[in-house]
Amino acid sequence: MKNTNNFVGRNLYDLADFSKEEIISILKTTQAMKEINLRDYKKLPTLRGKTVCTLFFENSTRTKMSFELAANRLSADVVSFSASTSSLTKGESLQDTVYTLNAMGIDLYIIRHSCPGTPQLVNKYSGKPVLNAGDGRHAHPTQALLDIFSIWEKRGTLEGLKIAIVGDIAHSRVVRSNLIGMKKLGASVTVCAPKTLMPSKMEEVYGCTVDYDLKSALKDADVIMGLRMQLERQSEGLFPSLEEYTKRYVLSKETIKFAKKDALIMHPGPMNRGIEILPEIADSNQSIIIEQVANGVAVRMALIYLTLGGKI
Ligand code: CP
Repeated sequence: MKNTNNFVGRNLYDLADFSKEEIISILKTTQAMKEINLRDYKKLPTLRGKTVCTLFFENSTRTKMSFELAANRLSADVVSFSASTSSLTKGESLQDTVYTLNAMGIDLYIIRHSCPGTPQLVNKYSGKPVLNAGDGRHAHPTQALLDIFSIWEKRGTLEGLKIAIVGDIAHSRVVRSNLIGMKKLGASVTVCAPKTLMPSKMEEVYGCTVDYDLKSALKDADVIMGLRMQLERQSEGLFPSLEEYTKRYVLSKETIKFAKKDALIMHPGPMNRGIEILPEIADSNQSIIIEQVANGVAVRMALIYLTLGGKI
């Protein structure tokens, strides 16, 4: 692969930082990485001598493991910082933590934090590129890229597709990044939730359609994405009960029949089975939820490779 990329040393805070052409270039690199992941020997020497640090201040299974696996597959050294077992618990600041890690020769930081804007702070303190692995409710750009890649791979384009995103829109960083990226690639996105889980001015800010009724939101959809009910981020009762939410908004055989027959079923995970999605849908032939996870490794390989200027 020719290494003419303008991603070297760039930060990824959100998809607003990248043009449509740049997103497509990331998707194409992801396709090449996916092919490597299908080989028996899934490893490239391209980033030998580089060091990647994952800094996770919030729990994660998919994002953390796939970033670490991605860096390993590119032959980078990977160090994993865990907030709960670090000297942060002795009162060390984020700034001193980053100075300390930087002294060890980190080339790229990957950070998840509950506070929006922390990736920018890590870049300021380190002077090194930073990939945002989720900052509060603000953004989760690598999840959006893997979601977009999963659709693009199946349908060849996002242009003209109707994508319905259903669930806890108010607390979701995934939906915000997806709205920016999907819109840039020409999809028409409808977001659907109870009013208490729908932020105001979504249409103006993101150019999407807002629908409070599940059946009309799903009507003729090419893609349906369920979102997790983020109970840990909800401090007040935003709906009478989970049963009430499920009755009106669950993705089931009954409700998805309003979408196109071959609609792709997606979920960024982790799922609350039985609350926002039933197993009959999550595990159906239309579901690409497990493929999304596999694509997560490839998209993160592409991003690390592009940012650190690897050569294939
Ligand atoms: N989708 C996602 O971010 O999952 P994790 O929290 O497991 O990383």
